[in-house]
Amino acid sequence: MITRRTVLSGLGSAAMLSQLPTRAWADVPAKALQMPLLVDAVETGRFAMTAQAGITNFLGRAESRTWGFEQPFLGPTLRLHHRSETAAEVRNGLDEAVSVHWHGLVVPGDVDGGPHQLVQPGQTWSPVLPIDQPPATVWYHSHTHARTAEQVQMGLAGVLHLTDGQDDARGLPTAYGVDDLTLVLQDRRFDRDGRMAYRVSMPDQMMGFLGDTMLVNGQVGATAVVPKGLVRLRLLNGSNARIYTLALSDGRPMHLIGTDTGLLDRPIALETLTLAPGERYEVLVDFGDGMEVSLLSGQNINEGMMGGMMGGRRASGPPFEVLPFVVDPQVPVRVSRLPEALGGSRPNMSSSDAVERRITLDMAMGPGMMMRRAENRFSINGQPFDMSTLNFTTRVGQLEKWTVSANMMMHPFHVHGVTFQVLSENGQAPRPQNTGWKDTLLVDGAAEILMRFDRPAAEARPYMFHCHILEHEDGGMMGQFAVKG
Ligand code: C2O
Ligand code: CU
Ligand code: CU
Repeated sequence: MITRRTVLSGLGSAAMLSQLPTRAWADVPAKALQMPLLVDAVETGRFAMTAQAGITNFLGRAESRTWGFEQPFLGPTLRLHHRSETAAEVRNGLDEAVSVHWHGLVVPGDVDGGPHQLVQPGQTWSPVLPIDQPPATVWYHSHTHARTAEQVQMGLAGVLHLTDGQDDARGLPTAYGVDDLTLVLQDRRFDRDGRMAYRVSMPDQMMGFLGDTMLVNGQVGATAVVPKGLVRLRLLNGSNARIYTLALSDGRPMHLIGTDTGLLDRPIALETLTLAPGERYEVLVDFGDGMEVSLLSGQNINEGMMGGMMGGRRASGPPFEVLPFVVDPQVPVRVSRLPEALGGSRPNMSSSDAVERRITLDMAMGPGMMMRRAENRFSINGQPFDMSTLNFTTRVGQLEKWTVSANMMMHPFHVHGVTFQVLSENGQAPRPQNTGWKDTLLVDGAAEILMRFDRPAAEARPYMFHCHILEHEDGGMMGQFAVKG
């Protein structure tokens, strides 16, 4: 049995809320990290899941009320064919309305699962998803306007693997939970008793809610057991607001193989990887030397001007441990060589006949901010989200170039119903990690993105574009648009 020291975080110490402790450890037997339940819908072309309430004992000393799909917290990993008509069935067993948005699936507005498609308590929503896009790791989560942050915090989220069945031929690890790990990164706060707590103060709303304890797949203090070879990590930042700056403890490279919505043409070796809320990255890590190593993250970098204004929260502080790995030589090694070519692509569109738009992500500041209603503290181009206002209309086949500016702090910007190319970040070529297909981009200053809309969204079932800091999204930093067929 593995013994290691596991996290005892700075529970209840309000001063430290935004800074995760490096090593406030205690000697206890380690738990092996569990994967979410895998539901394979490749053959059947259908899946069903129920949003339900449950009980989760995160820290081993108190029961928290949580939500999940088919389980107490979070939902199963759904494996879907990348070209299929997949029939989904989502039942709402909770006592408030929810919606289920397929973040990263490029599907028409009427099955996108945004805030106009609420599933009432006791009801079932049965969209047929016409999936036709490259293999990727995407995800699903609740998207109920003004309730998204709390519903996701409670556990209404899960991962989707879009597959074409060719990953073995590509030389990529494919054994779920063995050399192909799905890792949902989230931070949470716990009260003195050890119960998950989501109470949003004014600074929490401004900064986005940051936890004091790290969860991977809903587990605290777990260790991943891996083979002595190459391991694929499918990383999802499912946190409400925290931005991770990931690195391995001994500085070994992460070989980036996939971005939000697809595989790259070839791996890119990175020492650090930034993972903002809503983003997914797939990396390969070589454990062939058998050494123990940890995935670490720097403290949240999104302090901006708010640090000083909101009581001195700072990004400073040593890195904290996200997930330790131990190598088990008994686990058969399936892949030991880094593939040279991945069969994916990098976007390389021409922006010459693109429609141009300017998108400014705004925060109301000063006394005015305090006066505003919670749903109106944030806006896009000065307009807080309004369910009954369409912000613009485009059409199928249209190429669009958006210049997105982030005011006051960094904002992870997401667009529904499309996958985009990053043209520039602050006037420079995009960082290597942003050269693949994306649907969410951390905007720190200004960025230009280029995309072509291929799927329709009617005015009554429009697509959303928004900041993926969920407290900002719920607070009005969201807009909606139709795509005429
Ligand atoms: Cu992941 Cu509109 O959201
Ligand atoms: Cu989305
Ligand atoms: Cu934001």
